[in-house]
Amino acid sequence: MSERIGILTGGGDCPGLNAVIRAVVKAAAKRGWETIGFHNGFEGLLEPVRHRRLDYKEMDALLHVGGTILGTVNQGRFAAKAGHGEVKRIPVEILEQAKQNFEKLDLRALVCVGGDGSLTIAQQLFERGVPLVGVPKTIDNDLEATVITFGFDSAVACATEALDRLRTTAQSHNRVMVLEVMGRYAGWIAAHAGISGGGDVILIPEIPFRYESVCAKVHEREREGKHFTLVVVAEGAREQGGDYVVAGEAKATREARLGGVGAVVAGEVQKRTGKETRLCVLGHLQRGGGPTSFDRLLCTRFGVRAVQLVAEERYGYMVALKPPDTVAVKITDAIGRIRTVPLDGDIVQTARALGISFGD
Ligand code: F6P
Repeated sequence: MSERIGILTGGGDCPGLNAVIRAVVKAAAKRGWETIGFHNGFEGLLEPVRHRRLDYKEMDALLHVGGTILGTVNQGRFAAKAGHGEVKRIPVEILEQAKQNFEKLDLRALVCVGGDGSLTIAQQLFERGVPLVGVPKTIDNDLEATVITFGFDSAVACATEALDRLRTTAQSHNRVMVLEVMGRYAGWIAAHAGISGGGDVILIPEIPFRYESVCAKVHEREREGKHFTLVVVAEGAREQGGDYVVAGEAKATREARLGGVGAVVAGEVQKRTGKETRLCVLGHLQRGGGPTSFDRLLCTRFGVRAVQLVAEERYGYMVALKPPDTVAVKITDAIGRIRTVPLDGDIVQTARALGISFGD
């Protein structure tokens, strides 16, 4: 059997991709296998095929480095998601070309590191006959079948630090500060950072909000002598009866890009409360930079486990975290439906018990 495996990173980047690559290359090398890295996600499998051997020594000092040394794309010839996350069939000729190029390289298997979109592509490639395993990546934390995805903790740490910084300026100026965070159609980043950073209002896609309720919280704080308010808004938050605010329209070949709801909320809160309100859009700062120690450890565990799955020939499976262990789950169990913040779960209940408003 071949003593080479392939690896690629797909979709939006996030902290920890290099830590996974490092763990895979090292764990493979310990088994005597060589690792080939494909450039720019699944695109690297298509003509012109772009790949290179990942040297064991190159992995030194990579654990804490952000981004991905392999590059990635979240749109291209493999688009498996469009509109508001609807699954699309990738053209057969694209899948076939990728499969043939994969076979020419005589690889034992492919490790696909990605989120919902990339794992949806991986599943279609697997069904076409490419032996592969998945590693769950996304700052959005919206994949089913794993307790957490890597990158999420780093994004939350970034958003929490932003709230710490916004608090002091909000307090100095007696202002309302609105922080817009990412997360697509799930409010995990907003909810976790909102609680960790002491937010007063957290608006998430799972709980459509009313401006009356958001402003009531601002007034309540005024009455308590607190003349500033921190509002955390997930990019997928929407008003009751309203629609998502998009920065880039959905196309037949790509998903809608969310963004802009923070500005709408900030404008409306200022108009309704008369309080000076400022907006901060955290944007790609959440995706850049190195991983937290939690993510470094998680990525390392995921990478090592992925190589083990290849050794066991458990193709079509993805590594997942089921504390205290990493486990293998079918890729089909992780995709197709996004994991959202449960309304009766501990996170929402904790926030409510503290008096944090969800604007409902
Ligand atoms: O899925 C990760 C994510 O950062 C989302 O939170 C966000 O909506 C999207 O990607 C942004 O994508 P892009 O990098 O194309 O702007």
